[in-house]
Parts: sequence; C-alpha cells; structure tokens
Amino acid sequence: MPIQWFPGHMNATRKAIAKRVPDIDVVIELLDARLPGSSANPLLAELAAGKPALKVLNKQDLADAELTALWLAHYQAIPGTNALALDAGETAPARKLIAACRALAPLRGGMVKPVRVLICGIPNVGKSTLINTLVGQRVAKTGDEAGITKIEQRLALASDFDLFDTPGMLWPRIVVEESGYHLAAAGSIGRNAYDEQEVALALLGRVRERYPDRLRERYKLDALDGLSDSALLAELGRKRGGLRAGGVVDLQKAAEVAINDFRSGAWGRITLETPDEFAAWLAAGQLQDAERQARKALITGKKPRPGPSA
Ligand code: G4P
Repeated sequence: MPIQWFPGHMNATRKAIAKRVPDIDVVIELLDARLPGSSANPLLAELAAGKPALKVLNKQDLADAELTALWLAHYQAIPGTNALALDAGETAPARKLIAACRALAPLRGGMVKPVRVLICGIPNVGKSTLINTLVGQRVAKTGDEAGITKIEQRLALASDFDLFDTPGMLWPRIVVEESGYHLAAAGSIGRNAYDEQEVALALLGRVRERYPDRLRERYKLDALDGLSDSALLAELGRKRGGLRAGGVVDLQKAAEVAINDFRSGAWGRITLETPDEFAAWLAAGQLQDAERQARKALITGKKPRPGPSA
C-alpha cells in the first residue's frame, strides 16, 4: 500500500523525543489493543532502546480480551518492560499507570529525583483522552519553560512525577503490509493517504478468519464459505444502503461502512493480530524490504537504506 505520511512535524517530533530520552526514566508507549504490533513505533524502539518501558494497550474495551492477555504476557516477558491494558477514559485504571511507572524506576521519586516519564503513541491511539483522564482538573502545563520545545508538554501528575507528552508520531517507511492496513482501519493514518476499498477488503479478509460469525450476524449473511473478500464487501454494501439505481453496489460506501463498523466496535471486540502472527509478518516484511532496498541500490548505485522499520 503506497502511503505518503511522514510530514515535517513528525520529523520534529522525532528530534524532540531523541533530545528528551536521555533524561527520562520510563517510556510509556500507548498501543492500540486491537493492533498492538502494528501500532508499535519502530522509530521509538530505536530512540528509547534500553529504557524501562511501559506498554499500555489502550481501547481494550474494543479488543478481544483473550488476545489482549496474550499480548500483555508477551510484553511482560521482555526484561525491563511492563504492560497493562486500559480504556483511556476510565480514571481508576489510568491511575494504575503511575504506580506501574514508579515500579519501573524504583530509584527515582521524591522532590529531588522526580520520576520522569515520556509518553508516546501513534495518532488516534487515545493519548489525549488518557492524558485528560490522568490530569483531570489538576492539569499543570509547563510547556513554555526554557529548554522545553513547543511540541513537548510537561505535565506534573504528582509533586514528584512528571509526564512529558509528545505529539502522535508515525514512521517513514512501513514494511509490514498488514500493518499499513491495520493502521488505516484504526484511523491512525490520514484519510487521503490510503484507498478505503483496499483497506476494507484487507480488514474483512482478516476479520473473517478469526471472527466469521460476527460478520455473518452483523450483516445477516448465510455463510461466508465460498464468498470471496470482494463478494463479501459487495454483499455488505447491498445490506447496508450501498445499492445504487439499477442494482449496482456502491463499493466505496460499503468500504466506509465496514471501516466505521470496525472503528466503533459494531463487530464486537476484535483484535487483528497475535504476537506470533505479527512476528511472522515482521520477519517477512523486513526480508522483502531488504531485497527492495538492495534492488534500488543496484539501480541508483547508492547504499541500501538501513532498517529497522515496520
Ligand atoms: P490521540 O490523542 O492519541 O490522537 O487520540 P484521542 O485521545 O483523540 O482519541 C482518538 C479517538 O479514540 C477518540 O474518538 C477517543 O474518544 C477514542 N478513544 C480513546 N481511548 C479510547 C478507549 O480506551 N476506548 C474507546 N472505545 N475509545 C477510545 P473520536 O471518535 O475520534 O472522538 P470522540 O467522538 O470520542 O470525541
């Protein structure tokens, strides 16, 4: 999926994160619980390598609880990493995040050595919602302080706990094809950067593998066997107001319905990827990308661009 999506401000965000990381005790990465692997930023993995990490699987209310448990166990098995799942709008689970950060930085705390936490996440993952929940009315924005760039904000969540917020950031090159589709389906990529029908087809293809009954029930379909993904999209259009004069199905409308139904949770709680699936996609994507870069290097005579990317 050819996507143009690394505008200048993302580069500025990358630089701000790189500058801040040395003074940070814990890096929170907010992930979308429906697509944890695809919503993890490989640029951040590079920038924050070696720092204690808290993976927060947000929008757990929309995700498959069993698969969320798998992802949590996956992250918790990584040394120096903890993980929790939450709905950004709920106060009690959000406050647990502060305790989890303190546990990851046991030598910090108190006025002299406040815990310094950086929070990052891709666009639309729910970071503003979570921050609003965390700060409530007690928001203390100190963004104009000397040394703090305009795009970064420091929020004092307690007298000895500072949260540094950065704008949502994506990465310049997506090498996992599935991730492109999943990010687009989740609304993390600008609407003009992808083809809705292509994304809807990939989404339906994915969802029918693990949750065929949800689609059957939602769109009152008999059986999905023998129905290709594009026939499924057309059927969905027929059932959901996508029929134009002369019985022609408006596939664009059908695609929009499918994507909106996924985003709003109308198919029930769904997760698009497991840790094992994502690892396999990543390995295949990186291999293909390396081959692509090598071919390009042969043609242009320039050195291949290095990874890692996802
Ligand atoms: P961002 O700052 O990371 O870009 O994301 P933001 O908080 O703006 O959240 C993006 C969308 O995701 C919002 O919906 C928000 O309400 C929703 N959201 C955030 N966290 C959760 C969660 O844990 N569960 C669910 N179900 N939704 C969540 P929106 O439709 O774009 O805006 P709105 O209609 O809620 O205002």
